[in-house]
Amino acid sequence: MDLRKYIRDVPNFPKEGIVYFDITPLLADPAAFQYTIDMMAEKFSDYKADKIAAAEARGFIFGAPLAYKLGIGFVPIRKPGKLPYDTVSVSYDLEYGSDSLSMHVDAVSAGEDVLLIDDVLATGGTAEGMIKLVEKAGGIVSGIGFLTELGFLNGQSKLNGVPNCHLVTL
Ligand code: PRP
Repeated sequence: MDLRKYIRDVPNFPKEGIVYFDITPLLADPAAFQYTIDMMAEKFSDYKADKIAAAEARGFIFGAPLAYKLGIGFVPIRKPGKLPYDTVSVSYDLEYGSDSLSMHVDAVSAGEDVLLIDDVLATGGTAEGMIKLVEKAGGIVSGIGFLTELGFLNGQSKLNGVPNCHLVTL
């Protein structure tokens, strides 16, 4: 199945000159969505994983069903101020400025292998933040799986050599 056909290009969103790759047609199509999760399970199974961690909001859409399919736990990584218990946090670079991500302190145990999942690798800032966060909690990032990669933004340079792969190149 050609998943690219289910990703809609929306020009000038969120700003003039930017093309937004909209995954909602893929999510709305049951066969395409199921195929995506099945392919992720197949392609990302080289990475040892005790848990999957993913960042809100779009990372949750793929991370949670994949964790269900692989029979492992799911860890939500959230924007600041959303998690109720004690957290670890990191700041990461955006194209302009910075942002931060948080995770519960006990979400990952020391030495646990964590597979990170996200819908897109763009500048790599979010993935870099997620790697730092899991490592800060004592976990090992065994790999990162993306639905799509925007190759032209060179997000790979932020991943610090962590093994990764994706299903669709944009
Ligand atoms: C988007 C996307 C990735 C990230 C990729 O999330 O879901 O997590 O940006 O971009 P980067 O590689 O340049 O960091 P966003 O922060 O827009 O939040 P959302 O998932 O809530 O839309």
